Amino acid sequence: MREIEAIIERYGAQRRHVISMLQDIQARFHYLPKDALMEVAARVRIPLIDLYSIATFYNCFSLLPRGEHVIKVCLGTACHLKGGTRLVEALERELGVREGEMTPDGRFSFETVRCVGACALAPLVLIDERYYPKMTQRKLTQVLARLRRPQPAAEAG
Ligand code: FES
Repeated sequence: MREIEAIIERYGAQRRHVISMLQDIQARFHYLPKDALMEVAARVRIPLIDLYSIATFYNCFSLLPRGEHVIKVCLGTACHLKGGTRLVEALERELGVREGEMTPDGRFSFETVRCVGACALAPLVLIDERYYPKMTQRKLTQVLARLRRPQPAAEAG
């Protein structure tokens, strides 16, 4: 809770900065924990229902825990026609979770989105907001394998 207090203080507990506060909380925890929203509501003196309205209006916020890597499969018309649903099925098999869920190790979560305006790249997958155009099940498996590999420690300088 101390981290939440620090975020609120960073913005002077001012109502006009509430979206920035929520963005910082989202960045830190990968979602908006209920306790954090209650703390913001109390400190900024804003009704909790207003925070939930903001949290559900903007795509960048999640009320459910998200993994370290967030995978979004576009299921807009173009992506759907070019195999988006097969990518969803492949992800469910690969990760062992269903849409909207997070893997038990907290590494991945995936969700579907509507057209993001890049239909020429269909079927499109976004991973941590990076675009992966013309995705195939094989490419998806390769990308997941790369993300699963432990990252080399930074060299001491
Ligand atoms: S339908 Fe997927 S980007 Fe438009």
